[in-house]
Amino acid sequence: MQFSIKSGNPDKQKTGCVILGVFESKKLSPAASLFDEATDGLLSDILRRGDMNGEFGQTLIMHSPAGAACERVLLAGCGKESEFSPKRYCELNARAACVINESGARDAASYLPELEVKDRDSYWKVRQSVECTLHALYRTGKQKSRQKKESRPLKKMILALSDTDSPKEAETALKDGQAIAKGVSLARELGNLPANICTPGYLAKEARALGRKYKSVSVTVHDEAAMKKMGMGSLLSVARGSREPAKLISIKHSGGKKSDKPVVLVGKGVTFDSGGISIKPSAAMDEMKFDMCGAASVLGTLKTCAELDLPINVTGVIPATENLPDGNASKPGDIVTSMSGQTIEILNTDAEGRLILCDALTYCERFKPKVVVDIATLTGACVIALGGNAAGLLGNDDELVKDLLEAGQYSGDRAWQLPLWDDYQSQLDSNFADMANIGGREAGTITAACFLSRFTKDYKWAHLDIAGVAWKGGKEKGGTGRPVSLLSQYLLDQCR
Ligand code: BES
Ligand code: MN
Ligand code: ZN
Repeated sequence: MQFSIKSGNPDKQKTGCVILGVFESKKLSPAASLFDEATDGLLSDILRRGDMNGEFGQTLIMHSPAGAACERVLLAGCGKESEFSPKRYCELNARAACVINESGARDAASYLPELEVKDRDSYWKVRQSVECTLHALYRTGKQKSRQKKESRPLKKMILALSDTDSPKEAETALKDGQAIAKGVSLARELGNLPANICTPGYLAKEARALGRKYKSVSVTVHDEAAMKKMGMGSLLSVARGSREPAKLISIKHSGGKKSDKPVVLVGKGVTFDSGGISIKPSAAMDEMKFDMCGAASVLGTLKTCAELDLPINVTGVIPATENLPDGNASKPGDIVTSMSGQTIEILNTDAEGRLILCDALTYCERFKPKVVVDIATLTGACVIALGGNAAGLLGNDDELVKDLLEAGQYSGDRAWQLPLWDDYQSQLDSNFADMANIGGREAGTITAACFLSRFTKDYKWAHLDIAGVAWKGGKEKGGTGRPVSLLSQYLLDQCR
């Protein structure tokens, strides 16, 4: 898909489809008004006849509008002007992309970026138009033996700006939006792959491929023997139950000065989580192939960094393993020693994410990080608390937490803070080891973060629990690519 920026009247655009916004009730956007004048009142006629009233989500395509140079015009309902929000702007772009993709038009000129969006500038609008269009047009399903071919897919899109907007900012927005969309697509695709293909070794290969593709990226992969040498008894205890060898992947984007401390992103890479000996119920267990979405978001974000050649150092760390039951698997009550030296009583083998993350977090100390952010599909409790709208966010540094919250707000990939108070720490007390790996039914997302906090005392750290946002179930089952947008925004904010 090719994007470009252009200004000029909508009726003059020689294109497969012009996209125009209409507000409720029957109020034309400025670009739609211009188009209406040029076509002798075509749009006002339609509104008057009641084919459409501008309600949010309505769409209407007309062919060969007399007086205009385009083949089609798509009217997109924007709802009440007073209720037009950043979120609605994004949904509108996605919907328009879907409708046009089905229409037969090969190219389009969207006037949606001309719409006023409260508290958002033209950079944001152009970037979101790109991200939302590409998100809507993403198709998975390489595993289907018969690929459904789209007969005439959308190939080119012009984003129209009014003369008052800065073209330079818009060009930056195009570039940023496309790079973020590439990162998001990579994360979605990896998430969607089945666990028999997307193994720990596959994630390592994927990281190495990024290292080959981008000059700024280098990759190191540690095998189980190396992890054993480093004392990663907790991570390895999870891998014991699986025949797929675990990997510890580290992937570095060097865009900053050599002396710049890196931002370190740690992604949970459990390529399948059966629960282990504390086995999960079988309903929807297939969705536990998505338990590596933290890892996928780290690889996606690194791809975005490399595409933009961001002037910053970013290191991704991915502990990757399966969690399966086996004769050799960890049993409830087993005690293991983490790389930090702290001992852990494994009361539930299904709380495996924290067991692999804790060693990865200790490993991070060697990078002398500026900050560390871990990203993990860590607790079902987070799905109960926040649902699919916001990731859970906890951390030991207020400024870092605030920066991440703001990046989420701006990008639309939102997070919500939960308290990491000491009051919850005692839930992890064990009679036999330094700590237990579970903290009981109450506040499950917080006690999971409390567990991790015991391994992150040496640096500024935040934890994103993405269990609710990383994928969708049901009819729309599939990876979302979250939180690549949030993380990319955070990194952009660090550079600019
Ligand atoms: N990967 C799961 C968390 C999860 C569950 C994400 C459902 C999305 C949907 C994690 O490894 C897990 O099993 N967590 C347990 C922890 C419990 C045993 C303390 C959970 O949330 O049930
Ligand atoms: Mn689990
Ligand atoms: Zn898990």
